[in-house]
Amino acid sequence: MTSPAPRVVILATGGTIAGAAASATDNVGYRAGQVGVEQLIAAVPALSAHRLEAEQVAQVDSSDMGETVWRALVARCEHHLQRADVQGLVITHGTDTLEETAWLLQRMLAPAKPVVLTAAMRPATSLAADGPQNLLDAVTVAQVQGAHGVVACVAGRVLSATDVQKVHSYRTDAFDAPDASPVARVVEGRVTVLRPWPQSDRASWPEGRAWPWVEIVTSHALARRDGIDAWVATGVQGLVVAGTGNGTVHEALRGALVDAEHRGVAIALASRCAAGPVLAGHRAGWRVYPGLNAVKSRVELGLELLGSAPQR
Ligand code: SIN
Repeated sequence: MTSPAPRVVILATGGTIAGAAASATDNVGYRAGQVGVEQLIAAVPALSAHRLEAEQVAQVDSSDMGETVWRALVARCEHHLQRADVQGLVITHGTDTLEETAWLLQRMLAPAKPVVLTAAMRPATSLAADGPQNLLDAVTVAQVQGAHGVVACVAGRVLSATDVQKVHSYRTDAFDAPDASPVARVVEGRVTVLRPWPQSDRASWPEGRAWPWVEIVTSHALARRDGIDAWVATGVQGLVVAGTGNGTVHEALRGALVDAEHRGVAIALASRCAAGPVLAGHRAGWRVYPGLNAVKSRVELGLELLGSAPQR
């Protein structure tokens, strides 16, 4: 007897891909996270050819992403990734914080199977919704032999958790990997792999531990230190500085950051530029997470503060 083909599990969390508007011509005045996962699947007849399982993990606008949903998502991913009959996972997610969730999952799971996030810029009720094609493509990517790690699949491109960034507020092709090429492309259901799948060390978020309080401060002209001082006075544990250019920081902020550090606040440096690394030179001894933008550095600093020992 042959064993049945492996499955793809779709974990739904909400977002515009599950959004609904009063009119099919309205692509902006909608509510995210309204349409259930079974209905999203039913809207794509081609998915009936795939062996799928679906689970509604949450139903949120990802701009409101919080600890409870992150915890639940990590736990459901861990559960399904352990199953021998599961080849890969697809996660439907809002576009707004997709890159942060992607990095969290890569670090928490470091999965040996593919975990493919997908999203849409237009609601499910739109005249020309982009979600159905993205969902079909993501399910296809989750079944690629040898695929592993966390990726995003949107508008026919597969971008690694390290590189993926939302770069446009309206276009359906809203994601890019500004400093890297895509991991793969999907054209008419065919996946062409272009470079290695993502991998990383695995971190942990111990049960019962609250996510550390980490804020992002942007350096800019006419910067003032008051905001940093207020955060420090109210117990912030970490600060990520989105510096100008190659991580330069306004002198008014530098003093406040040094004072914050003396009071035990962990400081990390990133760039507010849309692309490019922070190279040695302006770091003032602060940690830099290579290849990570400010929002992903914030996730990484949170994991560091949780005291996560890397586990291979
Ligand atoms: C969200 O991030 O949940 C809303 C916006 C979107 O998905 O495009």
